Amino acid sequence: MARTPRPLIAGNWKMNGSKADGLALAKGVADGVKQAGWTDREVLICPPATLIMAVAEAVRGSGVLVGGEDCHAKPSGAHTGDVSAEMLRDAGASHVIVGHSERRTDHGETDAMVRAKAEAAWRAGLMPIVCIGETLAEREAGRTLGVLETQLKGSVPAGATAAKLVVAYEPVWAIGTGKTPTTPEVAAAHAHIRKVLGGLVADAPAVRLLYGGSVKGSNAAELLAAGDVDGALVGGASLKAEEFLAIAKAA
Ligand code: PGA
Repeated sequence: MARTPRPLIAGNWKMNGSKADGLALAKGVADGVKQAGWTDREVLICPPATLIMAVAEAVRGSGVLVGGEDCHAKPSGAHTGDVSAEMLRDAGASHVIVGHSERRTDHGETDAMVRAKAEAAWRAGLMPIVCIGETLAEREAGRTLGVLETQLKGSVPAGATAAKLVVAYEPVWAIGTGKTPTTPEVAAAHAHIRKVLGGLVADAPAVRLLYGGSVKGSNAAELLAAGDVDGALVGGASLKAEEFLAIAKAA
């Protein structure tokens, strides 16, 4: 099976952005992407739920994709404060991040919950970006590859294919810290993820594997060049259009 690594550069805005800031940022990204005219890579921005509709409107026609940062597993109902995959889709999203480490930590999300959310994304016609990653303690104990394997097997639903799944490897200790694994460490993690995916997905070589954790303009080229890396999931550096576009350019 041939690898089809059309890179995906995804921005995760997290809990940031007023309407004014968010629209300015979205327009900045859209203008840059339009100007670049890339056909060999995809650029996605994931704003907070409050901004998805306005951001989707603002980037229309630019080629920039819009995603949610999380979704509930159910399509609707008595789940105060939650947002369903169907609602994200209705608001203009094509993708949704599930199982981000901040969701796993802040909201006690388990692999089973993440898996249900990924299935919800499919039900709504969204592409799930399933996040996995080890903590510092797990890495120091030499458990990284085992942790990734357990998370993958628990979080990726049966029936996944490359056309329906993106996986993001985000070491918890690298998120928002300015620390990153070395290029060989990233390559080793991604190679293992791809190997494990081989037992879960028929076309594992074609599944896009993103690296996330302190990606910025200055280290993007190196991280994106690591083996089995097909893009980036970017937090802090996605909040400045110029910096985020520099990462997209490096892809
Ligand atoms: P960071 O966040 O780029 O700010 O480290 C990445 C993420 O949490 O997706």
